[in-house]
Amino acid sequence: MKILVTGGAGYIASHTNIELLNSGYEVVAVDNLSNSCMESIMRVEKLKGKKIHFYRADILDKQAMQSIFDQEKIDAVIHFAGLKAVGESCSIPLTYFRNNLSGTINLLEVMQEFGVNNFVFSSSATVYGEPERVPVTEDFPLSATNPYGRTKLMIEEMLGDLYQSDSSWNIAILRYFNPIGAHESGEIGEDPNGIPNNLVPYVAKVAAGVLEKINVFGNDYDTPDGTGIRDYIHVVDLAVGHIKAIEKLSDNPGLVVYNLGTGVGYSVMEIINNYEKACHKKLPYVVTARRPGDIAISYADPSKALRELHWKAEKGIEQMCEDSYRWQSKNPNGY
Ligand code: NAD
Ligand code: UFG
Repeated sequence: MKILVTGGAGYIASHTNIELLNSGYEVVAVDNLSNSCMESIMRVEKLKGKKIHFYRADILDKQAMQSIFDQEKIDAVIHFAGLKAVGESCSIPLTYFRNNLSGTINLLEVMQEFGVNNFVFSSSATVYGEPERVPVTEDFPLSATNPYGRTKLMIEEMLGDLYQSDSSWNIAILRYFNPIGAHESGEIGEDPNGIPNNLVPYVAKVAAGVLEKINVFGNDYDTPDGTGIRDYIHVVDLAVGHIKAIEKLSDNPGLVVYNLGTGVGYSVMEIINNYEKACHKKLPYVVTARRPGDIAISYADPSKALRELHWKAEKGIEQMCEDSYRWQSKNPNGY
């Protein structure tokens, strides 16, 4: 089976490419390299000793997408391509809407044209807005608190309408919680541009001595230690979830939605403590103001994915921090 992976050079895609190759799939990857580089593709090929058919192209370029579908006989698409920085999406919302929404519409139209109807979509726990309680189940009310989140919500709604109009589509919407960590080889991992927005990539750079100290965004939340709680999930577990979703699509399930998380929440201070154990040093931090838009606590109820996909996150927080640190130490300047 041949899988088209959009955003195929990115962080989650590169780990998913490994799992796809492990499971015997052929991988066709498309990426415009706006937030990644070819090196991640080459490292995956080297790790696995297998080729990826890579196309440097923009999903907004319909002709380029048509030519890929023309050349390759695609069976299913995993759609990672998108812009993902919450803060940036507030400053340049139209860029986010064009890239994420128009890009997805293009892709779906080309799939329709070539009769490909198996689709896995990278959604996010951000679609739960500020959840009323935890753990979060898939039937919670949905809302968006920023333009990035709105693109995810709008794409989910678009996929719902598409499926209503034509039930031959098989669509798996995967709502990721907080992916962190890296492949255990230390050869591939997250390589954010500039100063990281997210906690663990930031902590990794402090541990590596690239940044001076961690800013803890608020310690007056209604949580046991006052800092925000999230459901961190090892990126390799997350990648395996995509293989399970592809397998599920072959049973013609229609449109299905799954939370991919561990079901366990860790606070910012717990992450710092675990990271200190992984890197064997004290990590300087300072408590600063809350970051606007942040919620106190979010973690998944992942039981639907266990029941229906037979998938469960296996790797604990220690391994997430160790693998993150191994990647960071081996690649202090990224790829
Ligand atoms: P990433 O930036 O590493 O990967 C996205 C890839 O898409 C990049 O390689 C980028 O160059 C590519 N891309 C962007 N626009 C494109 C376009 N128009 N045409 C072709 N390629 C394009 O991000 P990631 O963390 O691997 O995230 C993958 C997906 O998962 C994204 O859709 C993101 O919104 C979603 N997601 C990520 C997280 C997270 O915390 N990392 C959480 C929830 C959901
Ligand atoms: N935090 C800090 N200091 C930092 C960065 C973050 O204290 O330098 C705190 C935040 O306040 C929050 C926690 O660490 O309590 C996690 O923050 P992240 O930025 O790592 O992750 P978020 O949960 O805010 O959001 C991320 C992505 C979203 C996505 C969401 C769920 O940025 O796009 O996970 O998948 F929707």
